[in-house]
Amino acid sequence: MILSIESSCDDSALSITEIATNKLLFHKKISQEVDHSVYGGVVPELAARLHAKALPMILAQCEPYFKNLKAVAVTSTPGLAVTLVEGVTMAKAIAVALEIPLIGVNHLIGHIYSLFIEKEAVFPLTVLLVSGGHTQVMEVKSLTDVTTVAKSMDDSFGESFDKVAKMMRLGYPGGPLIQNLAKDGDGLKHNFTVPLHQSPLIAFSYSGLKNAVRLAVLEEEKNETPDFKDIAASFEHIATKHLTMKLKKYFKTTKPKTFAIVGGASANLYLRSQIKELLKPYHAELLLSELQYCSDNAAMIGRVAVDMYKNDMFSDMEELDIAPKSKL
Ligand code: KG4
Ligand code: ZN
Repeated sequence: MILSIESSCDDSALSITEIATNKLLFHKKISQEVDHSVYGGVVPELAARLHAKALPMILAQCEPYFKNLKAVAVTSTPGLAVTLVEGVTMAKAIAVALEIPLIGVNHLIGHIYSLFIEKEAVFPLTVLLVSGGHTQVMEVKSLTDVTTVAKSMDDSFGESFDKVAKMMRLGYPGGPLIQNLAKDGDGLKHNFTVPLHQSPLIAFSYSGLKNAVRLAVLEEEKNETPDFKDIAASFEHIATKHLTMKLKKYFKTTKPKTFAIVGGASANLYLRSQIKELLKPYHAELLLSELQYCSDNAAMIGRVAVDMYKNDMFSDMEELDIAPKSKL
């Protein structure tokens, strides 16, 4: 079995995965969303202190598995420096105490493997990762052969939902809150410009759309009883259209066969439906993670760790360090 730890942002999570079967024997996550909600976003220093409390609490529940552990895995990149270090320090302490090897996991590969929890991994596939920290398209040929073909030049898709929710004083995380508000709104009411629609670049950008939404919110606030549902729906519509337009452009040269959407924002139902439509003419298969594994979790880290273990991809105790920015 492998014990895996995730602490790259605002979720403290641990899992136990059986190496021979990929079976998830234990998974527990303590989310800090409520603690950060008043600030409208994650406060790194607060997140680190909450991890320091939550991780050992969950670890205590894993004690019955200690004697069966063959390795300890941990997210070491990318993420918030002060929160990554909480998980990595704990993983190193466990590795020393139980005399087992250490596996440093890339969180983005973790999101890709959220598709394969309790399953065999299937490659090749094209993956759209949409989370709070990332918006990127990756060509994945294997565990170690991952090429990023498009990424955001500024804010990420999920982050733009968080920022728009903050403008509307809805709380954090913004994704589910905006999705919920948008469902009764008119997505065509506000004609926001689709980012980079005239640019030949296959890349993403959300800062311009965010500012356009800010102006619409300010305008709506002039009303006695501001109602943001049409702005939320129009924002969700354009934010998604931007993704589908750029993907369509990319598919002109590289036809998708198996396509996947992963990351916290892949839970967005409008995005899921639009991508399904986009893939129809290509008869491509769409892979999605179970809703419970879209946002950050340790089950996905454990699933990567099993394949890394089988490929002898261990980390050196002295050399394993945190890296806030991913090489991918
Ligand atoms: O993958 P994740 O848990 O953390 C990162 O690795 O960043 O993603 C969290 C992000 C947040 O920005 C959150 O607002 C967004 O995913 N999110 C959504 C939805 N659910 C979560 N964005 C849009 N629609 C949703 N339904
Ligand atoms: Zn994530």
